[in-house]
Amino acid sequence: MGPLAITCVVGARPNFMKAAPLLSEFRRRPRFRPLLVHTGQHFSPEMSASFFADLEMPQPDVNLEVGSGSHARQTAEIMMRLEPVFLERRPDAVVVVGDVNSTVAAALVAAKLGIPVAHVEAGLRSFDRRMPEEINRIVTDSLSDFLFVTEESGLRNLAAEGVPREKVFFTGNVMIDTLLRFREKARESNVLDRIGVEAGSYAVVTLHRPSNVDDAERLAALLAMLAELSRRLPVVFPVHPRTRARMEQFAAADGRLLLTGPLPYLDFLRLVTDARIVLTDSGGIQEETTVLGVPCLTLRENTERPVTVEQGTNRLVGTDPARAMQAAAEVLDTPPRRKPAPELWDGHASERIADVLERSL
Ligand code: UD1
Repeated sequence: MGPLAITCVVGARPNFMKAAPLLSEFRRRPRFRPLLVHTGQHFSPEMSASFFADLEMPQPDVNLEVGSGSHARQTAEIMMRLEPVFLERRPDAVVVVGDVNSTVAAALVAAKLGIPVAHVEAGLRSFDRRMPEEINRIVTDSLSDFLFVTEESGLRNLAAEGVPREKVFFTGNVMIDTLLRFREKARESNVLDRIGVEAGSYAVVTLHRPSNVDDAERLAALLAMLAELSRRLPVVFPVHPRTRARMEQFAAADGRLLLTGPLPYLDFLRLVTDARIVLTDSGGIQEETTVLGVPCLTLRENTERPVTVEQGTNRLVGTDPARAMQAAAEVLDTPPRRKPAPELWDGHASERIADVLERSL
């Protein structure tokens, strides 16, 4: 049997920690010849290069440098630049991760060239099509030949959509592979000293969903809630570029919040590990806090990651500031409780995925 040319496509910040353990596993196996393509969807050093450094990832073999744009423009641009790469390299399979525009664009190009598509983190559904990521998930899954699922809800969702069972593999969570691998190293980060907070006694906030930050009133109300929370404990808020732009446009933050730019992976992992509470609208952070045993309030009406609520430390509180504040007070008044990690979030998901690909391709 000849070598397997596997092309991994990444583009945006949450892709990097998912692709890193896959690439390292593919590189370890003699049969795999991995290639890494970066679409350039995220391009600022703090949104991209810092992750490659922290996660000890090889530099991309190809960078498409697409940059930002409307959804249609960005997706189309990625597709146009990716097609010649796939035509030239003729990979045996294309691996895509997560639910960003780069994910769906790569799946579309590969599927139309008849190249098998493997989707890592398949089957998650928020059932909210106003989220661009939900559209990306549905389209990517419907085009995929291998659907690697992180939690049981994914199996149910794909079955309900009629995806043949033999295409679906419950392999666990590759993002947790990365978290467990780098947990010790993150302890060496001095980010707490730099920001001036003490372990176990501060909140961490992240906000970047268009539904929360692109609406002036909603963003102002959330920032007011965070200001109120900062009366009880220091609130550290690493600000995403999208959110930074909106805050400059229409909603300044209260001076008591501890604002930083986007943080590198190891600093952020350290910050979350030692937080008393996390408030977020991110998908991945709901999963990371679950494994770290840190209480998480998700500032959204729904989640595509229900296992983090059913078995983890996550609570959906919506975006009503009073409700979020009340939930935060409840968390701060209750001692945190440790729970076991969800099934197969054990640091070995990438190996299971590589096993399936090696066996089947
Ligand atoms: C994208 C993903 C989202 C993911 C998020 C994580 C889609 C549809 N959305 O959203 O699922 O949760 O990444 O960050 O794929 N910008 C920079 N530097 C960068 C990248 C972006 O300054 O490196 C700014 C640009 O002004 C850009 C804005 O941030 O217009 C938004 O970037 P974009 O890639 O469009 O979407 P995100 O909000 O980052």
